[in-house]
Amino acid sequence: MRKSIICCLFSVVCCLLSVQAAELSFKVKCKYLNLPISQQEPRHHLLFQAKGVDDLSVVARLSASPEYWVFKDLTAYKGKTLTITYDGPEEALAQVYQADTIRDAQEMYHEVNRPQFHFTSRRGWLNDPNGCIWHDGLYHLYYQHNPFEREWENMTWGHATSPDLLHWTEQAPVLFPDTLGTMYSGSAVFDKDNTSGFGTKNNPPLVYAYTADRSDREVQCIAYSLDGGMTLHKYEGNPVIDSHDKWQTHDTRDPRLFWWTTDNGQQTTDKGHWVLVLNERNGHSIYTSTNLRDWTYKSHVNGFWECPDLFPLPVDGNPSDIRWVMLGASNTYMIGRFDGKTFTPESGKHRFSTGAIYAAQTFNHTPDGRRIQIGWANIDHQGMPFRGQMLLPTELTLRTTKDGIRLVSKPIKEVASLLKTLYASDKTLSEHEVNEILNKKSPFKGDLEGLGLHLRATLTLSYATSAGLRLNGHNIIDYDLNRNTLNGQFYSPQDPTSLSLTMDVYVDRTSVEVFIDDGLYSFSAPLQLPQGDNLEFWGPDINVSNIRLDAVTSTMP
Ligand code: FRU
Repeated sequence: MRKSIICCLFSVVCCLLSVQAAELSFKVKCKYLNLPISQQEPRHHLLFQAKGVDDLSVVARLSASPEYWVFKDLTAYKGKTLTITYDGPEEALAQVYQADTIRDAQEMYHEVNRPQFHFTSRRGWLNDPNGCIWHDGLYHLYYQHNPFEREWENMTWGHATSPDLLHWTEQAPVLFPDTLGTMYSGSAVFDKDNTSGFGTKNNPPLVYAYTADRSDREVQCIAYSLDGGMTLHKYEGNPVIDSHDKWQTHDTRDPRLFWWTTDNGQQTTDKGHWVLVLNERNGHSIYTSTNLRDWTYKSHVNGFWECPDLFPLPVDGNPSDIRWVMLGASNTYMIGRFDGKTFTPESGKHRFSTGAIYAAQTFNHTPDGRRIQIGWANIDHQGMPFRGQMLLPTELTLRTTKDGIRLVSKPIKEVASLLKTLYASDKTLSEHEVNEILNKKSPFKGDLEGLGLHLRATLTLSYATSAGLRLNGHNIIDYDLNRNTLNGQFYSPQDPTSLSLTMDVYVDRTSVEVFIDDGLYSFSAPLQLPQGDNLEFWGPDINVSNIRLDAVTSTMP
């Protein structure tokens, strides 16, 4: 049925465009299909068909004079006859070939503009983190992915695993577009009691919620995995939520799953149930379920757009003082109470991280209960066959500040294991002295060239004007004490009379991340290319203390 609809659509498209589709058919013997791509070519329909495998219909810019190559994992097609149909130039399709290696793989992960300690996809486009979960010793990071070019399209769930959230191994994609639509963002839970019935008592499933996006509507679907998240099966009863007719809106997406229990500080007779937070209409809706298949609408909070997250955190580490944090895609948030059905905001919206970060998600089921967030940054790694990256994973906590309870975000403690100290001193240095040291010890020079950099330092101003840090002439930090702005955003230190700012700066090849005053505020930005080799503080009569300069070791395979 599914197959015939896709074939039918494909022939209608070909017919309307009056093109003769080119075809390639062969027995699959190898692991990968290599495809030649050029951004100069228009997109054309590309259809993959094989007996026993769902048809896959995507668009691609195949080219006979490729700028770069992408690949498709062929594991699911092994031993079968694969037929590829393309309604673009035949000579471009003719260049597609199977092989056991990815074309140009010898350079993989060490290309000149490949981030060295941030996750990027081998090839193609990457956006939102999806299905973030720890399970059986591994963190799973799924992500919005276009495997067929470095621009957004064909939304597919890419997949990577890591023992420590820093060293990632890329796995084969797990969710592909189907007749309900392309695979938009979602999340994952471990259904340890097999409430969904997708697994067994001895092999309980991981269960995923995602959005299928089609031009006429967006619906919410479920998938499950019985092999620890490596392969996913779509639930036959999909979609499980279709709120299009109820609200008459197209945009209803990014289901965020978690298990709610009374141990989260709320008094109720409810022993626990599944919660799905969904962005629809003007904010986030709460749906509940006992089996992850049947969902009931409960409540709605206005004021958010895309990619919900909702989780409890203790205030200042006190387990008997729990608040709930509700976020949207921009990482702005409200703090409030949640009784399992309704989120009641008490303060907000606040923000703690700005810049390139978008669509961040926290990991479910972390082994030590840490609330770890990972965000996407739409960074253009110029000239590379891939685009976008994940930012450093950060631990989120709630702290009482002079402005009230606020989220604080710091790179996870594991990041320290990547740092190799080049200089450390508790002396207070003048601008000239510190710049001389930064210049001499820079990890961007000599043997260390190409490595990332971490700088921790306290900058003290002597006039209430501006001062900061720049790399190759471009400002990384511009702190204006008169306007109280940090790179243009209002920032007021905990002691409002303080002239000092403590910074943790992480520079990778194409991006910079800065954490101010131990994570009270953070921001991320693309780095101006070419890569910097001249790091310097600036400002009238400033001084710098507690300096620590580190090289950041590559986490690439
Ligand atoms: C956010 C977003 C999500 C959607 C996905 C599509 O970046 O627009 O709302 O699910 O990206 O790729």
